Amino acid sequence: MMDIFHITGPVRLSGRITVSGSKNASLPIMAATIMAPGKSVIKNAVRLSDVTVLGRLLSQLGAKLNRNENDDLHIDSTVIDNPIGEYDILRKMRAGICILGPLLARCKRAKVSMPGGCAIGDRPVDIHLKGLQQLGAKIHLKAGYIVAQAPDGLKGNDIFLGGPFGSTVLGTANVLMAATLAKGRTTIEAAACEPEIADLANCLNRMGAKISGIGSPRLIIEGVSCLKPVEYSVIPDRIEAGTFMVAAAITAGELRLQNCPLGHMMAVVDKLRNIGVTIESQNNGCIITRTGGLKPADVTTQSYPGFPTDLQAQLMALLSLAEGNSVITEKIFPDRFMHVAELNRMAASLRKEGPSVIISGVKKLMAAPVMASDLRASAALVLAGLAAEGTTIVNRVYHIDRGYKSIENKLNSVGAKIVRKSI
Ligand code: EPU
Repeated sequence: MMDIFHITGPVRLSGRITVSGSKNASLPIMAATIMAPGKSVIKNAVRLSDVTVLGRLLSQLGAKLNRNENDDLHIDSTVIDNPIGEYDILRKMRAGICILGPLLARCKRAKVSMPGGCAIGDRPVDIHLKGLQQLGAKIHLKAGYIVAQAPDGLKGNDIFLGGPFGSTVLGTANVLMAATLAKGRTTIEAAACEPEIADLANCLNRMGAKISGIGSPRLIIEGVSCLKPVEYSVIPDRIEAGTFMVAAAITAGELRLQNCPLGHMMAVVDKLRNIGVTIESQNNGCIITRTGGLKPADVTTQSYPGFPTDLQAQLMALLSLAEGNSVITEKIFPDRFMHVAELNRMAASLRKEGPSVIISGVKKLMAAPVMASDLRASAALVLAGLAAEGTTIVNRVYHIDRGYKSIENKLNSVGAKIVRKSI
């Protein structure tokens, strides 16, 4: 059984949507509970398939997970007696690699499958491993598994985590988590500054860690001997929010986003404003409207606080309808362009040139059957489907369910016409 979407357009969206808790903050925070024996509660850890899959991984390690009616996730990590991350899970979800640092810190050993390939690029983990080695772990590869050991515990060190494409988000998460329980002081230079890493660091401090420099590229961690369980609420999902902003813009609509402070979204807000979208901050949210035409833009994805790669595909759908030529350059995952051919099937005019795509704006998009290839590429196809004439069929919707909580219900509540079908 596989779900598909039938999306009938064009529509004009209008109304109110509440932004959910951040997927990419929830995942490492769930992993962090491994290091704090006892019962933690993660609030706003939305029921997404990625969250469920990481939950399954934690259960295999020995943790006990429970959910109540809302999005709170209860994790009891009193017992962690099987420090093994199986291939079967890692091959489906690369983010599972974020259990490596916490397992090493808690169990002094870990065996975690090397993540498999991925539609958006190679995605190596060499920097994660280098950082953990610098904390004193002995690491080797065996039959596709990373085998890591630190029988005498980890030791603080000065660690540079930059790579050919800048900082690494989950690499920073892994080394940061492991360093909280290492002996002595660790300095991480070229740390990822993404709000999800800051959220993780704040959560770790609530567990008793001593991290300073949060949100900056230099994190300083004074090792502590133990962490305690917490109750912690994750930040709103800035990528889900950005996707809805584009939905308002591409349908020339008006959306009010609740639970959407703009502080983490300055690059996105700035770009959308230049393109002709009006964004006003209001209480804990914002109002997005578009009345005039869309202007072309030149956009390069970068690490935070630059324009996020996770909104690149969605922005491309929008710029397909701008009046003139735009360029999008992908600096984080230079092959993350699976959506280009699919958008062209919907009558967009996109041409890939190395790590860039040249977009000649068209007057309208036309519905077509299209194939989702990864999470954000699928979101771009849904957005294009809202604006396209006719009924777009998006196949392999499971990709979108990994990171968006019932996107069709949220969009339908503001005027979209999306039907989920199981085939
Ligand atoms: N890289 C290396 N070596 C490493 C690690 C990364 O060369 O050891 C390279 C990558 O190949 C890439 C760049 O560094 O070119 C950045 O990758 P990063 O490690 O930051 O990515 P990630 O931590 O695996 C997270 C998000 C992604 C998001 C990226 C970039 C989670 C669970 N995933 O991945 O989110 O695109 O950061 O911001 O936090 C998504 O939500 O759709 C998604 C893919």
